[in-house]
Amino acid sequence: MFRDSPFEDISSGQAASGCRIEIPKSSGLVIFGASGDLTRRKLIPAIYRLFRQRLLPRGFFVLGVARTEMDSARFRELMAAGLRETFPEECDETCWHNFSTLLHYRSIDYSDPESYRVNLAEVLPPLEKAADTGGNRIFYLATPPGVYEDVIGTLHRSGLATWPGTSVKLVIEKPFGNDLESSRRLNAILLAAFRESQVYRIDHYLAKETVQNILMFRFANSLFEPLWNRRYIDHVQITAAETIGIERRAGYYEEAGVLRDMFQNHMFQLLTLMAIEPPALFTAARVRDEKAKVLQSIRPFSLENLDDCVVTGQYARSVAAGLKGYREESGVASDSTVPTYAALKVWIDNWRWNGVPFYLRSGKRLKRRTTEIAIHFRPVPHMMFSQTMGGRIEANTLILQVQPDEGIHLEIQAKNPGSRMCLMPVSLDFCYPREISLSAYERVLLDCMEGDQMLFVREDGVELSWLLLTPLIEALAAREAVPRSFLYEAGSDGPAAAAALLEKDGRNWRSL
Ligand SMILES: NC(=O)c1ccc[n+]([C@@H]2O[C@H](COP(=O)([O-])OP(=O)(O)OC[C@H]3O[C@@H](n4cnc5c(N)ncnc54)[C@H](OP(=O)(O)O)[C@@H]3O)[C@@H](O)[C@H]2O)c1
Repeated sequence: MFRDSPFEDISSGQAASGCRIEIPKSSGLVIFGASGDLTRRKLIPAIYRLFRQRLLPRGFFVLGVARTEMDSARFRELMAAGLRETFPEECDETCWHNFSTLLHYRSIDYSDPESYRVNLAEVLPPLEKAADTGGNRIFYLATPPGVYEDVIGTLHRSGLATWPGTSVKLVIEKPFGNDLESSRRLNAILLAAFRESQVYRIDHYLAKETVQNILMFRFANSLFEPLWNRRYIDHVQITAAETIGIERRAGYYEEAGVLRDMFQNHMFQLLTLMAIEPPALFTAARVRDEKAKVLQSIRPFSLENLDDCVVTGQYARSVAAGLKGYREESGVASDSTVPTYAALKVWIDNWRWNGVPFYLRSGKRLKRRTTEIAIHFRPVPHMMFSQTMGGRIEANTLILQVQPDEGIHLEIQAKNPGSRMCLMPVSLDFCYPREISLSAYERVLLDCMEGDQMLFVREDGVELSWLLLTPLIEALAAREAVPRSFLYEAGSDGPAAAAALLEKDGRNWRSL
């Protein structure tokens, strides 16, 4: 029960064996663009869930700021409605009432230092004093990317980035730039105002349990690491398949397309975690150093032979499934050639991965929603069972499942029980129970309060991935016409040419 203080019953808790419990630092969270979709559907619900789990620090408050005129009471109402929409089962009126006292709102002009003085510099100290947050401030940019430069510049000019007696962190949402040049410009603006150690570039995929577990799984077990190289791994498939279309984000998606939306960030991040060398220490700096080395080792895409390394596609109407095509979505040009699907063949030119292809695919309106990394091991070197059983023995596959359920599955061969000698594939499964996992935004917010940058992308990580993808995106856009196989039926496996990309190498995608 909560009484006077919303935090009255927070218990310190004991660390389980092998666990490090960090108590997040008391902090004031300032959300720019707080009248928007991300704040209502993701951020506030995540903070509310942390509150319910008693994982918020003892001193905490949210100050939402945006241009929309409203008072804190109206802001709380809007946030309550967002929570009811997103997690109807979690709406506990008493708990919400206690939680909502932590939420405040001020209207602001994003580019006016005077507005920052009146609505931030003067408003924050009394809130900080009341919550005893010790001057720890987190500025969270939840506006469209076009507004980032304004907000960062105005924070800089108004002195709020380095206000005496405060410790400031800045969280910035994807997309981080649109290409190499814009990402460099944004980094330059950001680093003119803040130090890299203050900057938290979000890739919320990195905050998923299974993604974090990749490093633990690889480097805390002696079983797999000896096999994690070109001698034992035949190839790797990374899939991020969505069943949804572009929802109401046509404006953004028409500019972005799947390569910017999914590959520059999430797909390349999954690839680097899968492929990195063991860092000497499990610290943000060391892990991010190793990730950068992987990105530096990726072979540039062959722009003369695009068909050898990339396939793109766009979903078309499915009469059978009753689904619209991309070009029929509201806000999309009727002749749009923006890809909603891409498959890439990636080579990592280093000692460990020489000769091992990494196949990456991601798309919208596909048959099934799944995000996974599938490591396909080499087949056994000699088929001693061929005389008794014939047929081909499926090689072992290890699947790191990221979405919708999080877990690890190892597919092996075992004897089928009974009198006949035959093999059957079986799976050794480990699944995270849904209810104990923190959602990606809960994790991201906690890590930011703790000051742990491990799951956030560093300046070089962003630029290296744009360095690889920008020429590819430009070469695809410069093609005279999209290939005939570009369109794929909504609700299908994706374009046929994507299957051909692997078939040329004698391999197949895992079925969706
Ligand atoms: N929504 C998601 O699920 C999601 C997921 C991942 C990443 N993101 C990223 O998170 C950020 C915020 O997303 P969102 O969906 O919350 O955005 P949004 O709803 O479109 O915008 C957030 C707020 O920014 C202000 N704003 C919108 N357009 C503006 C403009 N042209 N100039 C100045 N202010 C403007 C509006 O507030 P005022 O008019 O009141 O100022 C709006 O309520 C974006 O960078 C997005 O890419 C969002």
